[in-house]
Amino acid sequence: MTDTEAAAPADRTTRPTGAAQAPVRAAQWIRTFHAREHGTARLVCFPHAGGAANAFTALSAALPDDIELLAVQYPGRQERRAEPCAEDIATLASGVAQALAGYADRPLFLLGHSMGALVAFETARLLEERGTVARLFVSAARPPSQDWEEPDLDDLGDDEIVAELRRLGGVPEPLLKDPDILREVLRLLRADHRPLRGYHCADDAVLAAPITVLLADADPKNSVEQMRDWARHTTGDHGLEVLPGGHFSLTERDSGAAPLLTRYIREAREEPREDGDTAVPPARSEFVRDIYLAGLGGRRPALSTDLTTLEDAARVVMTPHAHAYVAGNAGTGATGRANREAFDRWRLLPRMWRGVDRRDLSVSVLGQRLEAPVLLAPVAAQTVAHQEGELAAVRGAAEAGVPFVLSSFSSHSMEDVAAAAGSQPRWFQLYWPNDREVAESLVRRVEAAGYTAIVVTVDNPTFGYRPSDLDTAYLPFVHGEGIANFTSDPAFRSQLPEGSDGTAAVLHWAKISANPTLTWDDLPWLRERTKLPILIKGIQHPDDARRALASGADGVVVSNHGGRQLDGGVAALDALPAVRAAVGEGVPVLMDSGVRTGTDVVKALALGADAVLYGRPYLYGLALDGQRGVEHVLRCLLADLDLAMTLTGCAAVADITSDLVAPSGPLTAPPVG
Ligand code: FNR
Ligand code: LAC
Repeated sequence: MTDTEAAAPADRTTRPTGAAQAPVRAAQWIRTFHAREHGTARLVCFPHAGGAANAFTALSAALPDDIELLAVQYPGRQERRAEPCAEDIATLASGVAQALAGYADRPLFLLGHSMGALVAFETARLLEERGTVARLFVSAARPPSQDWEEPDLDDLGDDEIVAELRRLGGVPEPLLKDPDILREVLRLLRADHRPLRGYHCADDAVLAAPITVLLADADPKNSVEQMRDWARHTTGDHGLEVLPGGHFSLTERDSGAAPLLTRYIREAREEPREDGDTAVPPARSEFVRDIYLAGLGGRRPALSTDLTTLEDAARVVMTPHAHAYVAGNAGTGATGRANREAFDRWRLLPRMWRGVDRRDLSVSVLGQRLEAPVLLAPVAAQTVAHQEGELAAVRGAAEAGVPFVLSSFSSHSMEDVAAAAGSQPRWFQLYWPNDREVAESLVRRVEAAGYTAIVVTVDNPTFGYRPSDLDTAYLPFVHGEGIANFTSDPAFRSQLPEGSDGTAAVLHWAKISANPTLTWDDLPWLRERTKLPILIKGIQHPDDARRALASGADGVVVSNHGGRQLDGGVAALDALPAVRAAVGEGVPVLMDSGVRTGTDVVKALALGADAVLYGRPYLYGLALDGQRGVEHVLRCLLADLDLAMTLTGCAAVADITSDLVAPSGPLTAPPVG
């Protein structure tokens, strides 16, 4: 089958995902024949040599509503005919990987047919640098480390190539007889064979993603023996599935490929963990049952399960200035109060009898699977709350299965925090220093230490007017707390005079850490220096969200810094729906500021967030009981969220839709679903 076959059905390549970011590139590379608005997974299909996106129209039609097929269009054919064909597999893979950046909101499965398997494999390697690939399917393709023994088509006459095409099938006979079409077929085949013949697989090319090999039982070109070495290219599971038919079986109607792929993709959704443990994890709400059972033995939780009361408890154990720093807000505290009032103004409108026996709290953000739509917000200088600071916090987060976002202004270095995090995902929040040498050095270290996203905070060009800190005349950084990422940084240290003391470091930190001259035009500088996804935190105006994406960001965090920066600003929850509307579906939008309970999380998601950052309450847990305190807070929050999903009738996070919330007060009209 080639691109010269009957025209594809109406092209609906209009996923808004990432549209504000790189509309042209994504639309060039990716075609969608059947958009699945409510899908839960995407299958990205890579065509064979000489082929085009529409090789997959039949497969796209045959997939169920929960799986959306994205077909890759290589340059040099169909609507991309004016572009030269790619010279090598790496160029194709990097084009596709970039185009897929806007599709990170659902798990990605890759499927490559024949030469497309090599492109899919290399694309998966690139995607794994910034996130995960759920599974790679390869069809009619030898392993990348094997010599494919392909002849040089430039040396072969047209007749010999046509004879091979007839042997393999795939191009209907009438098309081979049409001289114009045949010329195009031969042109593309010869062009695509160059990257195929020139391809060499790196020795260490191994994916974390599992690999499934599809082999047709009457494929004249490939055998079971040849497929074995695919196993060498994954640390995950691998296996072989046999389809009926010839070399092009995969792309033919009724080949059985669609149900087979569907089974794998749906099963992956059931798998709770990536570490090979496929046992179903206990429901988050079992934490509640455990508390009642412990009550039979006379035991009660050490800390309150009402997370809104932890501040009062923590005040007793914290120093007055530490409490002032964590709890304090800017100005009169109006924005801080507004953040909570906004949550109170929305009411949940639950649905009954939807059979939510089991809930799946997991989400995919930036292509990364999170166990729940919650991450710990970046909070500076955590040793003010507990001597172990961020190390205890990240350990507590890891125990609870919640990713940690480390502040630039942490009391322990990013490397030490990474070591404490173990295998738990972690992101880094960047306060972009005004010294580019230090900025670049920080970014290099972030990548080396295994952080998988950079959160650039934009609402702190300078600290807000904070009476609580002013009245205690206290800021942790001035006392040398919260500058560990700088004092451990080679570029920063090289700027200090020989033999200088802690005070010199604090003064130098103060000089380079504030960066009020930044504009959106600076963001491409960072974009060019890291492959990690970039989220912009502190967005409130929808136009800023658009600017962020247009300048190279992958997503935004709607936040007003918990009311610590600008007093009198809008509540973060009130800003959220307009930001979501501005960027469209598919672009990651997170929110924070005022989230306290599981039902708050449900409200934020119903109003447009993909996930929330959880802030102050975990600091109070940390102050009260170190790592265990953080674990307690997160277990309470996620149990509450799990119960809230049960009680609102949501089996999966995707079920948390806008019709689940209504403004407080009498319902005047049925909510729109
Ligand atoms: C913060 N926050 C913050 N944000 C950031 O991007 N970098 C940082 O270093 C800090 N530091 C920090 C210190 C303290 C003590 C607090 C309370 C907050 C803001 C944080 O990420 C988040 O936006 C707010 O905490 C959200 O408000 P609530 O929900 O905690 O009230
Ligand atoms: C704060 C800074 C460090 O809110 O973000 O204190």
